[in-house]
Amino acid sequence: MGRGKGSLLESGRHGFWLGMLISIGSIFVVVTYVLYFQPCDFLSSELCRSGTHIIRRPVPVAVVPERTFTDDEITARAVAKDVLSRRWNERPPVAKIAFMFMTPGPLPFEPIWHEFFKGHEGFFTIYVHASENSTVERKSPYFTAREIPSKKVFGGRIDTVDAERRLLARALLDSANMFFVLLSEWCIPLYDFNYVYTYLMNAETSFVDSFEDPGPQGRGRYLDKMQPEIRPEDWRKGAQWIAVHRKHAIIIVWDHVYYNKFRRFCKPGVEQGNFNCVPHEHYIPTFLHIIDPAGTANRSLTYADWSEGKWQPRSFGKDDLTPHEIMKMQVIETITHKTSEQPAATERAPCMWGGKQHPCYLFARRFKPDALEVLKEILPNIVRSPL
Ligand SMILES: *[C@@H]1O[C@H](CO)[C@@H](O)[C@H](O)[C@H]1NC(C)=O
Ligand SMILES: *[C@@H]1O[C@H](CO)[C@@H](O)[C@H](O)[C@H]1NC(C)=O
Repeated sequence: MGRGKGSLLESGRHGFWLGMLISIGSIFVVVTYVLYFQPCDFLSSELCRSGTHIIRRPVPVAVVPERTFTDDEITARAVAKDVLSRRWNERPPVAKIAFMFMTPGPLPFEPIWHEFFKGHEGFFTIYVHASENSTVERKSPYFTAREIPSKKVFGGRIDTVDAERRLLARALLDSANMFFVLLSEWCIPLYDFNYVYTYLMNAETSFVDSFEDPGPQGRGRYLDKMQPEIRPEDWRKGAQWIAVHRKHAIIIVWDHVYYNKFRRFCKPGVEQGNFNCVPHEHYIPTFLHIIDPAGTANRSLTYADWSEGKWQPRSFGKDDLTPHEIMKMQVIETITHKTSEQPAATERAPCMWGGKQHPCYLFARRFKPDALEVLKEILPNIVRSPL
C-alpha cells in the first residue's frame, strides 16, 4: 500500500505542479496581453476614452531615429521653454505697446501717427530705427529724440533682421512694454489707439505672418546646409511686419543658434538655388514655428495689397485714395496666403480674436508720401474703434 500511498502522494504532487504551471502560464498570458495590447482596445470606460492610458502599446521602432539636439539647440530650447512657460498674465501696472518704426530716415506720416497717439501718453513708447539719417528733424513731440542707435540697412540682407532685433532689444529694456509692433515709414493705422491697445493686450498669440510655400519664393530659398537645426518641413515664409508678445521678443533677441543659420545661408546670391533668400521674410516665422508653433496667429496685422504680383505691394498715392479704399482694408476678416508655385495655391483662414472672427488688420501699407493730405482728411472720419 506504501507504493499506492506513494503514488497517490506522487500524483498529488503532479497535480500541484500542474496547477502551478497553469497559474504561471496564465499570469504570463495576462501580463503579455496587458503589455502588448491596450486594455482600451476592448474596454470603453471613461478612463480609456479620456486618454489616461496607464499601459501603452510598445511604440514601434521609428523609421527615422529621433534627432539628438546639439548642445546649442538644447540651451536655446531650455531658455525658450522657461520664458514661454512663465506666468505672463501678471502684467506690469501699466502695460505699454512698443511701436518700432523702421525707416531710412523720414517718417512722412508722422502727423497721422501723432493724432493716433494723442491722449494715450503712458500706454505706448516709440522707437525709431533710422538706418540712413538719424538727423531728420521730427515735428511731433512723440517722435522727438526717439531714434535708437542704428546701423545702415541693405535691403534683403541679414541687416534687416539685425535692425529688427536691435529695436526689440532696445524696447525690451523697458519692462512695461508688453507688445512690440514693427512698422515702416509707409504705414498708417487703420483703427484708433483704444482698439489697437485692446486687440493686442488681449491677444492670445503673437502676430507673425507665416505659411508654407512650396514654390521658388518659399521652400525654393531653403538650403540643405541649414540642417540639422532647420529642417525643410519647418521652413516658413511670412511678412516682415510683426507684432509680438514680450515672451517672443525675448527669445528672438536671445536666439543665436537659428539666427546664425540664416546669417550664413540665407542671403542674396549665396548659392544658385536660393539666391533670392531674404532673411526678414523667413527667419522669425521659421524660428517661431520651430520653438512655439501654436504661439502665433500666422498672420500679420499690417495690410498690403499684393494683387499686382510685383516685388513690392501696391503703393497708394493721393490720386487713388478714397474713404472707400481704406474702409475695404478695415473690414477684411479673412487672411489669404498665395504660394509662388505654378499654378499658385491659395489658402484662406478666418482672422480670429477672442474666439470670434474680427478684422485682420490694424495697420496698412504702403502709402506714398503725397497721400498725406488726403489721409489727413479721410482718416479722422473713419478710423475709430469697432468695439
Ligand atoms: C540726411 O539729412 C540731411 C538733412 O536733413 C540731408 O541733407 C541728407 O541728404 C540726408 N541724407 C540721406 C542719406 O538721406
Ligand atoms: C499657426 O501655424 C502652426 C503651424 O505652423 C499651427 O500649429 C498653429 O496652430 C497655427 N496657429 C493658429 C492660431 O492657428
